[in-house]
Amino acid sequence: MSFKDRFQGKDFLTLMDWRKEEITYMLDVSADFKRQRMMKEPHEYLRGRTVAMIFEKHSTRTRFSFQAAIAHLGMQSFYATPDVMQLARGEPVKDTARIIDRYCDGLVLRTYGQNIAEEYAEYMDSPVINALTDLTHPCQGLADMLTMRERKGRLQGLKVAYVGDPWNVCHSLMVGSSIMGMDMYVAVPKGWKPNEKITKFAVEHAADGGSQMIVTDDLEEAFTEADVVYANTYHSMGHKDIEERKKAFAKYQVNDETMRLAKRDAIFMHCLPGYRGEEMTDSVIEGPQSAVWDEGENRMHTEKAVLALFIQ
Ligand code: CP
Ligand code: NVA
Repeated sequence: MSFKDRFQGKDFLTLMDWRKEEITYMLDVSADFKRQRMMKEPHEYLRGRTVAMIFEKHSTRTRFSFQAAIAHLGMQSFYATPDVMQLARGEPVKDTARIIDRYCDGLVLRTYGQNIAEEYAEYMDSPVINALTDLTHPCQGLADMLTMRERKGRLQGLKVAYVGDPWNVCHSLMVGSSIMGMDMYVAVPKGWKPNEKITKFAVEHAADGGSQMIVTDDLEEAFTEADVVYANTYHSMGHKDIEERKKAFAKYQVNDETMRLAKRDAIFMHCLPGYRGEEMTDSVIEGPQSAVWDEGENRMHTEKAVLALFIQ
């Protein structure tokens, strides 16, 4: 099987499906797309192809980065929210999926349950690309790893400290870190934990590759000598217990003081949208260690790689 065949026509639902050399390849292709864009080289490799985009949750970065990537690759996208589709009137996912499959060469899907993304994938021959579920955000994970590799020159052996909701973004970072040989410390208040299945995967893969995957309530342990300090909101889309979360997570903030625990040349990352004064301060996101704008930009380059590799 050629390397290309590992991706063509497959779904991109979670980073758990991919091995170290495959993720490295996706990052290399992403870096090449970034170079092509910088050099203003046309790269309309998928001219004439079409992609459906169904978004059941809000989005700024994912929607615009995919639509820009799709345009640069010469494709067309059709964006819809379920409220304007027959989905809102009870049409089953499996019927929607089979019909879209007849028109389009792929689907970019933002939804709630990972099982919904899996159902689309089951009923579509063309690739389903996960643009965020409650469980995972693999496109974010890829862009995060590209940003770390650019800024630090490597992934293997980096120490990543995470604060915020131990959910989709955290899960994809845990999976990516464990596969790529990074140490990751998830700092969460007592009683809040990442998903068990994801944690088991990440702990086992980290152990196989000789790295650490630690979930702790000790922020100092997590941040000390970190190469990357990563923040995410405490209240993800769909969560109703916002006030309870704000209270529980209040001490888990990236600010000038906690940032000083990390290495002097540590970078600050955030998937965004971010809430200044909650999970991080304005001084950190606007400060010299912040890599968040590159991270946001890299969404577009990594998604281009995913589209080019997966769409047939
Ligand atoms: N990081 C991210 O996925 O942002 P959006 O919700 O704006 O797409
Ligand atoms: N955890 C956040 C990520 C947003 C990109 C959410 O699900 O809302």
